[in-house]
Amino acid sequence: MDILLSTMKGHATVFDPFVGSGTVLTEAMRRGANFVGFDINPLAVLASKVKSGPFYVTALQDKADELVTRISLDFGKKIEADFPGMDKWFTREIAVELSKIRRAIRQESSLWARRFFWLTLAELVRQVSNSRTSTFKLHLRDPLDAPLDFKEVCRKYGAILENNISSYIEQAAVLAEILTNGVYQPAVKIKMHNSAMFSRISGLAKKIDIMVTSPPYGDNATTVPYGQFSYLPLQWIDLCDIDKAISNDILCSTHEIDARSLGGSIRNANEKAESLSEMSPSFWSIYKMLWEKKSTQGHAKRMAAFTYDLAKSIEVTGSYVKQSGYAVWTLGNRNTGGYVVPLAEIVSEVFNFCGFADVARIGRDIPYKRMPNKNSISATMTEEVTIIMRKE
Ligand SMILES: C[S@@+](CC[C@H](N)C(=O)[O-])C[C@H]1O[C@@H](n2cnc3c(N)ncnc32)[C@H](O)[C@@H]1O
Repeated sequence: MDILLSTMKGHATVFDPFVGSGTVLTEAMRRGANFVGFDINPLAVLASKVKSGPFYVTALQDKADELVTRISLDFGKKIEADFPGMDKWFTREIAVELSKIRRAIRQESSLWARRFFWLTLAELVRQVSNSRTSTFKLHLRDPLDAPLDFKEVCRKYGAILENNISSYIEQAAVLAEILTNGVYQPAVKIKMHNSAMFSRISGLAKKIDIMVTSPPYGDNATTVPYGQFSYLPLQWIDLCDIDKAISNDILCSTHEIDARSLGGSIRNANEKAESLSEMSPSFWSIYKMLWEKKSTQGHAKRMAAFTYDLAKSIEVTGSYVKQSGYAVWTLGNRNTGGYVVPLAEIVSEVFNFCGFADVARIGRDIPYKRMPNKNSISATMTEEVTIIMRKE
């Protein structure tokens, strides 16, 4: 990013169409760039909005103290969440404690502080639900595991809050020279949006200097089910605080977010595959091999549906990049049906088709992944490649 930014005048605009927890956002902010980020998952949008500030350190510490006091003085028994499966995923006692926290957050008057507290609550919900923490998927805990102690819930929240405030203070210190009274001045826009569809945010066309991202490497169902991971936390968060445009439909089932993500629908997969044949010969040759064997036709369909959506996202997001602007995508190859899918090759072919030229390619071993340890994808990905392309 540094090399590319050094070639640009003024405040460049960096764009991450799959913003996730905001790694690219943070790096762009450290360099004083404008930033646009999209994600289909409201929890990712919340995390990124929190990371973008404002950084009112003293005010946050005071508000956190008030929040903890409000929680400790609440002896109410009313449960503040209601969704199918509530009793399966939370014991009544734990739901009562989570409700105290939810009520206390709702009483906070500043949106920026509520967002910080919601994100902290999301972390807690993962720890105290009846779902295993060792996987992104929703799976009931082993009944033989030690039961969760409801008396610990509010204390745990306080501990996570303290930890998150430390990270916030560190981030404020890193950005100190760039912030003005705690506020990051260059423009930051983070939206819940499907990056495979054109955005209604006006004026994005040809406005992006550098698109930097790491997209999903396959459909969520067979790689990382980010949606299932977020389902329970989001039931305890006021979605309108994340983004006014978010509707509750996104939580209509545990699979809805994953279904809306890239490759979430395999409908018309064969037609989708055909439409990619000219654009990406690398895709087409793997697809044909998978389709030839009955046992791997399911893999062929899933790969076609995912690649089709990914190609759409390249077409859409590529149109936002300025002439001579850059796209920097980090990708991993994955195995499917016994074949390695050369994702970097496929993506660069689609970019070429959309008018981008290859500039460079950098390979690296995956240094670390903050993934639960029982995730099947980690066994199938060994290396990541960053491809750099310029719009001609
Ligand atoms: C690998 S993560 C992104 C990591 C992030 N780029 C980073 O560098 O920290 C993939 C993200 O893509 C999001 N995603 C999947 N399909 C999407 C879509 N159609 N539109 C926008 N975001 C999507 C997921 O919700 C997830 O947060």
